[in-house]
Amino acid sequence: MRKLPTLKKVTIAVIGSVLLIVFLLFWQQRQAAQATDLDAELQNLIAQQGLMPLAAPAPPSPALVALGQALFFDKELSGNRDTSCATCHHPALATGDQLHLSIGTGGSGFGAERRLGQNRDLVPRHATELFNRGLPEWETMFWEGRVEGDAVAGFHTPAGEFLPAGLDSVLAAQAMFPVTIRAEMRGGWYSVAGYAIPPGTVLDEAATYAQNLPTGWADTDVFGQPNELAAIPNDSKYFPEIWSLLMARLLVIPAYQELFRQAYPDVPTAELGFQHAANALAAFQAQAFSFTNSPWDRYLAGEQTALSPQAKQGALLFYGRAGCAACHSGPLFTDQEYHNIAAPQFGPGRDDFAPLDYGRYAISQNPADKYAFRTPPLHNVALTAPYLHNGAYDSLTAVITHHLQPEKALRAFDGRTLPPELRPTLQNYPVTLDDILATLSPQLPQTELNRQEIAQLVAFLESLTDPATAGLNSLIPDSVPSGLPVGEE
Ligand code: HEC
Ligand code: HEC
Repeated sequence: MRKLPTLKKVTIAVIGSVLLIVFLLFWQQRQAAQATDLDAELQNLIAQQGLMPLAAPAPPSPALVALGQALFFDKELSGNRDTSCATCHHPALATGDQLHLSIGTGGSGFGAERRLGQNRDLVPRHATELFNRGLPEWETMFWEGRVEGDAVAGFHTPAGEFLPAGLDSVLAAQAMFPVTIRAEMRGGWYSVAGYAIPPGTVLDEAATYAQNLPTGWADTDVFGQPNELAAIPNDSKYFPEIWSLLMARLLVIPAYQELFRQAYPDVPTAELGFQHAANALAAFQAQAFSFTNSPWDRYLAGEQTALSPQAKQGALLFYGRAGCAACHSGPLFTDQEYHNIAAPQFGPGRDDFAPLDYGRYAISQNPADKYAFRTPPLHNVALTAPYLHNGAYDSLTAVITHHLQPEKALRAFDGRTLPPELRPTLQNYPVTLDDILATLSPQLPQTELNRQEIAQLVAFLESLTDPATAGLNSLIPDSVPSGLPVGEE
């Protein structure tokens, strides 16, 4: 009598399990079918648009990379011996500095905590990350492309005719400039930066001239010695003087003599110029910061499971309805062209246009280029907040929302999300906002996406992160030839 209920229970359990298994199988198949549909759709689009994974650059010579690594982390390259390239492009901060606007010489603290030194000015722009800049596709550098060209056709740079020959790439050409910029590496108070060396001073005397400046005019380095680079006037015709003073600094250090000799065995020491240092800096960046193995690149190479379904949906939007690939195109996710997406304006502003930053207009003088900036590449973008040329937004969601409704986002931007010291510099007078919107790019999608779709786009952008970037800290050397400290800041 007691057996029957047990049998019943067993029967019910068996039937239940069978039903569950049938349901699970059905569900799994449905999911698989959906995934196949999604993959088929995406594969189609990839074929249509000819999308290709990133290809790693040819490995540069190890001796050049070793020299470049030393230079990249050595504060000897800055007038005051307190700032290296890594100060603003730090491996622990995904090759950026986490600041809205960069802080150069005289600053203190690390990452988002870094603070401006007394009598110093902010760098007017956000530090770009440096991923994959060694790839041969690059022909522009800086947010408004003020360094452009290639080794064959030649370069357009702020140095004009004073740029030395022998630069290997546009990345090497770029490396000539951080040392010439006062707020970044050169030093000298901005308030007196415009002063000129008295007429009649011979250029070679510029270094001695630094020692004879009235107190408070020149800078002193971390040891209290005069900063000879700060004393050079601003005009680009004096850039060669800055570069040769820097080479003089480097070549008195025996370890640098050796590193240069190994990197350039055929160049006599007397013929070494800062262009040789710049080529080495470019070689190091190419070697250290090339990451071509993101889930998206693996998917493009045929690995179907590399992407989550959400990222695949995001890819469909990116290359489809959301219209992102109109500008973020090609394997680097940039057309290397200049577009005004109506980013809010704040900070000190640039050159003649301060407190505004007119972007590409400063180079092209074309009114259509006002407020246009170079389309940034997007690999590893999830690691490099804040975003845009001045770090206006802290999250990818906020950046995407801005792109979709630029006018609304610009007018609504009240600076509340900015650090307190930047809030008063926000240029949100109606006349300025109208001026910004007057040259808004017609290529922006101006489309509505719901929250789920925006999350899918974010998932796609996250799939552009190469997991190997987690090992960036291993690039930081224990010491550099000058003996100056290396590490955070
Ligand atoms: C004080 C901070 C600071 C220092 C120091 C600094 N940079 Fe930068 N870097 C920036 C900022 C800010 C930008 C963007 C500036 C602009 O577009 O006007 C930038 C841009 C770049 C770019 C352009 C990337 C692109 O896609 O356009 C490269 C490459 C670069 N820096 C390399 C270097 C190297 C090499 C050094 C050392 C010689 C260096 N930086 C020193 C802040 C810094
Ligand atoms: C009209 C060309 C254009 C289109 C279309 C476009 N972008 Fe952009 N995007 C830009 C430019 C230009 C910037 C930088 C603007 C600035 O700094 O003022 C930018 C910045 C970004 C950034 C910040 C990257 C960084 O390193 O600061 C992200 C992320 C981004 N775009 C994603 C997208 C997505 C996603 C879409 C599609 C919804 C999209 N973009 C559509 C031109 C475009």
